[in-house]
Amino acid sequence: MKFKKKILSIGAGYVGAPSMVMIASKCPDYKVTVVDINVSRINAWNSDQLPVYEPGLDAIVKKTRGRNLFFSADVEKQIQENDIIFVCVNTPTKTFGAGAGMAADLQYWEKTARQILENSQSSKIVIEKSTLPIKTAQAMERILASGNGDVTFDVLSNPEFMAEGTAVSDLENPDRVLIGSRETQSGLAARAELVKIYSHWVSPEKIITSNIWSAELSKLVANAFLAQRVSSINAISALCEKTDADISEVARAVGTDSRIGSKFLKAGIGFGGSCFKKDILNLVYLCHFYGLPEVAAYWESVVKINEYQQERFIANVLQSMFNTLAGKKICVLGFAFKADTGDTRESPAINITRKLLAEHAEVVITDPKALTNAAMDLAQDAGKIRYVEDPYQAAAGCHALVIMTDWDLYRNLDYRKIYKSMVKPAFIFDGRNIVDQRKCFEIGFNVFPIGKPALSRL
Ligand code: NAD
Ligand code: UGA
Repeated sequence: MKFKKKILSIGAGYVGAPSMVMIASKCPDYKVTVVDINVSRINAWNSDQLPVYEPGLDAIVKKTRGRNLFFSADVEKQIQENDIIFVCVNTPTKTFGAGAGMAADLQYWEKTARQILENSQSSKIVIEKSTLPIKTAQAMERILASGNGDVTFDVLSNPEFMAEGTAVSDLENPDRVLIGSRETQSGLAARAELVKIYSHWVSPEKIITSNIWSAELSKLVANAFLAQRVSSINAISALCEKTDADISEVARAVGTDSRIGSKFLKAGIGFGGSCFKKDILNLVYLCHFYGLPEVAAYWESVVKINEYQQERFIANVLQSMFNTLAGKKICVLGFAFKADTGDTRESPAINITRKLLAEHAEVVITDPKALTNAAMDLAQDAGKIRYVEDPYQAAAGCHALVIMTDWDLYRNLDYRKIYKSMVKPAFIFDGRNIVDQRKCFEIGFNVFPIGKPALSRL
């Protein structure tokens, strides 16, 4: 079959692969290829055991793979053969040198830019889909312009706003698609090419265009605003616990103001995931870099409250369990950073588990999708932790349940059965406010929610 266009993603991770799967599904006349230097990841995308768990993704991969969607480890050949290249490589927080712990580590991104230059025999559109510091497109243009001049490149910014666990529906029905470009003739032509791709399924009013710097910055700002809402409600949850107010009632009252809105006001153990902390710290770094320490301090406080929320939680566990966890068995219910994903990057459960181990507790971890990643995150503590898929078996013989992930499964467990199998007095620390807390109290548990009065007989 002759395809109308050939599209490539460099990077087959949580963003690169699902977003290309959606393009392949919506644009059957385009050939879409996803490459990665991680060969085992590519092999997994070509198998029945996809490397990423995302509800609904398997079915679309099955429909498109081999038809117009291909996964390959031959990065150089695919760069040569494709005209439109999405760069979806990882941009973690730098761990060394200047800006360590804050700035984005751009080494993977820069290697990709050089690889594109070295392997291009025809002009190409290069699209930043990874989340990058503002002005990265300029650096990319400079690298790409350092070739012999016959081959030209247009760089666009098209940040991705999907969330894990809901990637398929977010990609299929996005709130908006943002495309930033240079306002030159060729920049605008490249932008029109990208608009054409999304127009296959996204309505025109949802495709927003802007200058390239606004697009780059908007992605960092969107994540900062979302994380700020979580930290705002978590900060108030601490006040609720001191005053007998109920954070769910406060969130409802506040969120029904249409100017504020009800989403992202769930108090909990704090935000996790690979992006919120990384992107806010990147924003903080940029503010310092541009001489704006007050702005930097404002955004940094969002991360500080997130850490405080976890410190508060673990202090509460320790204090409520008579100030000693040594030798006690604690069941960690959920390890993923949110429901409907197996991803554990920056999951609050990592930190909480380490703190439990530091108190010499015996830890049992259960999760429907994240146990493999959990065991990798806690590899240094191998031998000290048991991993059990069945939540009933995991909880049996434990002194406390510590709920870390808002899996629907945990709302509806038979807590009466679990209570019977546990050591008494039995505790629930509901880090997600998802169980029926009153019912659990009536069963016999001592229940410690977030931002609500504890239900305890002790
Ligand atoms: P990831 O680590 O899951 O995937 C990145 C992939 O890029 C890896 O598989 C890695 O092997 C590959 N890679 C690195 N260098 C390469 C190279 N030179 N050639 C080929 N492949 C290379 O990361 P992710 O979660 O998909 O995130 C990617 C980017 O998207 C980040 O900038 C992130 O901030 C952003 N983002 C992520 C999400 C999310 O939900 N995870 C959402 C929006 C934006
Ligand atoms: C987030 C953004 O929502 C996406 O728009 C963005 O594209 C993505 O980051 C990214 O750039 O990587 P994600 O991290 O996958 O998506 O998941 P979220 O739903 O945003 O949840 C993040 C964390 O906040 C989770 O730990 C979640 O449990 C927590 N959260 C969220 C709360 O504690 N309370 C809430 O009300 C909402």
